[in-house]
Amino acid sequence: MVKIVLFETTKNTPSAVLDAKLGQSLMKAAVAANIEGVAADCGGTLTCATCHVMVREPWFSQLPAMTDDEDGMLDFAACTRQPNSRLSCQIHVTEAMQGMEVDLPASQY
Ligand code: FES
Repeated sequence: MVKIVLFETTKNTPSAVLDAKLGQSLMKAAVAANIEGVAADCGGTLTCATCHVMVREPWFSQLPAMTDDEDGMLDFAACTRQPNSRLSCQIHVTEAMQGMEVDLPASQY
């Protein structure tokens, strides 16, 4: 299991720690843990942008580059896109993500 630490945007204290499986998407791990800040309405088919998250450094720079489809969908996120924004359904958990810190947007709608 890989621990992923979630923060609410307005606080700098962790709001949850996920136990994610290797290869699982970050979105699936959040949904399985009933994290309200990740809605994931489309179930990971890259058509909703309600799985928007912001990944902190140094992890953000180590993520695989986003596809053009993810890039385009992020423009529809309810909260303003940030330089470290990603769609959590497109992040697949690896060992290198142990302890990764992720901020949740104030809203997904
Ligand atoms: S779950 Fe819909 S775009 Fe990620």
